[in-house]
Amino acid sequence: MKVVTFLSVKGGVGKTTLTVNTANELAERVSGSEKVLVIDLDAQAGATVYVLGHKQQENLEKKGSTAYELLHSTLKAKGAASDPEKFIIDAGEEWSSRLYLLPGDSRIMAIEREAIAEAAAGGFGWIVLLRQLLPKLSESGFSYVFVDPPAAFGALARMALAAADYFIVPIVPDDFGRVSFRMFVSDFFNEAAWQIRRSGRSELPLCGGVVFNRIKTKTQESIANSIAEEVSKSKLYGSYAIPVYKSRLHDYIVYVKALEKHKPLSKMKSEGKQAIEEFARYFDEFYDYVVRDRVRSLG
Ligand SMILES: Nc1ncnc2c1ncn2[C@@H]1O[C@H](COP(=O)(O)OP(=O)(O)OP(=O)(O)O)[C@@H](O)[C@H]1O
Ligand SMILES: [Mg+2]
Repeated sequence: MKVVTFLSVKGGVGKTTLTVNTANELAERVSGSEKVLVIDLDAQAGATVYVLGHKQQENLEKKGSTAYELLHSTLKAKGAASDPEKFIIDAGEEWSSRLYLLPGDSRIMAIEREAIAEAAAGGFGWIVLLRQLLPKLSESGFSYVFVDPPAAFGALARMALAAADYFIVPIVPDDFGRVSFRMFVSDFFNEAAWQIRRSGRSELPLCGGVVFNRIKTKTQESIANSIAEEVSKSKLYGSYAIPVYKSRLHDYIVYVKALEKHKPLSKMKSEGKQAIEEFARYFDEFYDYVVRDRVRSLG
């Protein structure tokens, strides 16, 4: 099983959009009994609202079929994982038949407080809360898990990172985007990695790549060039190469329309030819670096 999370310091860079569309595309490619899961860890439940619409998200929250309920009950059971399958639903008819969702919940932020309190009271390390569910998810046939975190690099994003084999960094290359990458090579980030290693992981999550998104202007293209140059000179944890995707994603209105229609981008054929082709090229790179693990051979 492989776990992937799109991380950023900044909000609104496309984490949720890329998570949902990448997971759906991968779900179209897996075979046999393999399944793909999206775990929505954001209080805004963006991934859930994208896939199902806000009414269904609200209903699921009322019913208690959410990531919050699963994590909460796992905490209460002192880490003995509840059966995740009880909280997971299929993505519905617009989406790949192999795509599943652990829905988001507006109360999820409470987990940060609950988990840290539990750890302080001598429970298990909060950072592994999500990771310890992975064996059960694997038993249930999920071969790929995408975790959609909140924007802030708080406890939930760290739980996502602690569970991840790869994290991908979407960057909108404007003047704010220039600095956003530096977080991933900062002492602050390395400290989080150290915390993950201490929790019993021998291999740290690698960077599955930097992808530029929502490019609108020529200036942004040149900012992307200069960020790409900085990234290529940087090493993750001081020693691993960080790939930059050659295919850059531009700003297309069809992304917003796909969201409004609760459909994958790939189904917006009449209006989104260019955006779809561009996304397909990005996906090929994702497949190569992450699914085929080419990142590991970059040194
Ligand atoms: N390439 C694109 N072109 C046009 N719109 C886009 C593109 N990528 C994302 N968007 C739009 O930008 C908005 C923010 O995207 P998204 O919610 O995926 O970002 P996010 O990083 O998950 O945000 P948050 O930090 O709030 O979770 C959404 O309305 C989405 O439809
Ligand atoms: Mg989001």
